Amino acid sequence: MIKQIDTLLSEARLAIQEAKTSNVIESIRLEYLGRQGKLTTLLRGVKELPVRERPQVGGAANSARQEIEQLLSDAVDRIEGGEIAIDTTLPGISPETGHLHLVTKAIEEIAAIFKQIGFTRVRHPDIETEWFPFEALNMPADHPARDEWETFFMDAKPSGDYRFMLTPHGTSGTARSLATLPLPVRSINIQKCYRRQSDASHTPVFHQFDGVYAAEGVTFQHLKGVLEFFVKAYFGTEREVRLRPYHFRFTEPSFEVDISCGVCNGKGCRLCKQGWVELGGAGMLHPNVLKAAKLNPKKISGLAFGWGVERTMLMRSGLSIPDIRILYENDMRFLQQF
Ligand code: DAH
Repeated sequence: MIKQIDTLLSEARLAIQEAKTSNVIESIRLEYLGRQGKLTTLLRGVKELPVRERPQVGGAANSARQEIEQLLSDAVDRIEGGEIAIDTTLPGISPETGHLHLVTKAIEEIAAIFKQIGFTRVRHPDIETEWFPFEALNMPADHPARDEWETFFMDAKPSGDYRFMLTPHGTSGTARSLATLPLPVRSINIQKCYRRQSDASHTPVFHQFDGVYAAEGVTFQHLKGVLEFFVKAYFGTEREVRLRPYHFRFTEPSFEVDISCGVCNGKGCRLCKQGWVELGGAGMLHPNVLKAAKLNPKKISGLAFGWGVERTMLMRSGLSIPDIRILYENDMRFLQQF
């Protein structure tokens, strides 16, 4: 009888080892331990044995039962764990995919448009002395024009006569390009600018793109061509460009660039000024700006323009954002929409 128990046990071990599903495990359990099971039947026979043999056989049968139970429960764990891992019908958990900030997207798009007409993207420093943002742009110390650029000056030790500041406009980059790049200079500087302003239509940090093309023979026609190329590429071919005389210290003549309103197509509506919306500044480089960059204004001329990235982007999107500071509040409910 002990032998029979041993045979049953090794049979059961093998069967359990090979079982691959919980259904098979269940049928093995019935086959050995069920009411009519092989081991159960055998155990029932113990009481037919002579009394002195009973303890030994009973003990062997019981420990076989325990081992089989243990093996079965281990097998259930193994199979269930495995079944979950390979259950290809369960829906996957897809990782959340992010995307670039809408201003970053606009910057990339703007840079790509100017690249098509040979403008190289440059990035000039946010921190400058008074030289590039003011002095080199024909705004000497004490000139009232400086007041328009609500400047953040820094406590850092000045460099010679010049204080350090966070540049308030990308045109400082234009002065830097003129002073540092070889002729012909054809660069587009896109950078952060800083002004002491924070209200519904201003953030203290914002972005501007400033282009400059300086070489022999650059004329006002080139300026118009460049501006029209950009406006038509970014806003659409139906949009018109208008240059309105204005005054900047670093360009002469200077203009404000308007584009025909996308809502009324230039007819005039409540969103625009008689059919036009204002985009930014532009002009032909002032001779003093060329001189500050050690270029000879008798030989070299140049065009320049500079606009806000946020303003340009919002103007195209048609988004009417009541408070543009939301662009930089990192509120996912807003950002996820773009
Ligand atoms: N930097 C000027 C501003 O922030 C705009 C401007 C840029 C005017 C470039 C220009 C120019 O004439 O060439 O208001």
